[in-house]
Amino acid sequence: MKRVDLIIYNIKELLTLSGNNIPRTGMAMNDLGIIRNGAIAVEGKRIVAVGESEQIITAYTAEEKIDCSEMVVMPGFVDPHTHPVFYHTRENEFEMRIMGKSYVEISRSGGGIRSSIAAVRSASEDELYHLAKKRVKRMISCGTTTLEAKSGYGLSTDSELKMLRVIKRLKESLPVDIVATFLGAHEFPSEYKDNREEYIRILTEEMLPAVAEEKLAEYCDIFTEEHVYTIEESRKILNRAKELGFRIRMHADELKPIGGSELAAEVGAVSADHLGAASPEGIKAMKENGVIPVLLPGTIFSLGLNSYARARDMIDSGLAVALATDYNPGSCNCDSMQFIITLATLQMKMTVAEAITAATINAACSLEMGESVGSLEPGKKADIMIMDMPSYRYLPYHFGSNNVSILIKNGKVIYQNRDLETIEDYLS
Ligand code: NIG
Ligand code: FE
Repeated sequence: MKRVDLIIYNIKELLTLSGNNIPRTGMAMNDLGIIRNGAIAVEGKRIVAVGESEQIITAYTAEEKIDCSEMVVMPGFVDPHTHPVFYHTRENEFEMRIMGKSYVEISRSGGGIRSSIAAVRSASEDELYHLAKKRVKRMISCGTTTLEAKSGYGLSTDSELKMLRVIKRLKESLPVDIVATFLGAHEFPSEYKDNREEYIRILTEEMLPAVAEEKLAEYCDIFTEEHVYTIEESRKILNRAKELGFRIRMHADELKPIGGSELAAEVGAVSADHLGAASPEGIKAMKENGVIPVLLPGTIFSLGLNSYARARDMIDSGLAVALATDYNPGSCNCDSMQFIITLATLQMKMTVAEAITAATINAACSLEMGESVGSLEPGKKADIMIMDMPSYRYLPYHFGSNNVSILIKNGKVIYQNRDLETIEDYLS
């Protein structure tokens, strides 16, 4: 018998998502690689074996064992689109939307992204770090073990670098994988709203080189949308980012079909995100160029709209759809990938299995991390989520509270849900 560090066994339903490390498309999105009465052996940070309980228990022994007879076990969520670094929240805008104002109207009347900028500029790195850390901890408590985090609320060289340094500190201090994205082209700051060329000059000649120099971000992102960056402006900024070695992600065709998904295909973006208004041509172009659509149904929900991305058309066209929260202070203050799966199934008609694939292995591939996370297979990181559920089908059906029981990252328990035990404590 081989000694390992941890054995998780008797798993009622083990979703391995096994296959290869490339994004899953078509019918493969429905294949969760389920093992009933399964088990996983973990050594250090990695998975060493996955199989039926009998088989693993006879081959391995460990001091630490977790019995999961009433549990579903699956890979930790990968959230490939978040904006967790900001100063104040904007629940006032949520209320304005309830009263009938649109996101664009709110943004034009002094709200929106611009209203987050002054506070981020005057906040210290420490203040931003402590605020963001708490937000990422909440994402972890909802099952996220890998996430992407963007800058984009500073919009000056110094404040964008400050945000990215905050993300670097989050990476160093939290027990999850965090991928950094530079989003200096999130808006035009007020001082350049009538001199867009000058802001684009600063972006391309000062900010991008400074971020590259300090190696603070893997990706460059942009908000390409009718009321923000035009296609021509976006092309210029993204091509410059590519020259400097950044990989590309985009906020594309969220509200109006201005050709963002076509541009994502043209510049070889790794992902194009939102896509509520993507055209059939855009979907075709993304397919031909291997762009991963990252869909953000929480945003459409929180904007009070119905223009959900056409996930079915995308999956039927062979695109490897991924899901993310888009956690941010304005359009979507949602930290739970579980709730995103509920929306993806109900509102975008993805099957439960497709949505789980989109929130794990496909999301991992959208961060070019399919080799190490997103599925439970020997050699991969032991990022394992133990869910208090009778079957995986229960995941979107039981919404509004947390189904995570235990979360393991790199072989170590990083979260245990003791909510119900706490109530017991009060009773005794
Ligand atoms: O992804 N679309 C652009 N950015 C965010 C919104 C940011 C904000 O309103 O603060 C988004 O929805
Ligand atoms: Fe976003």
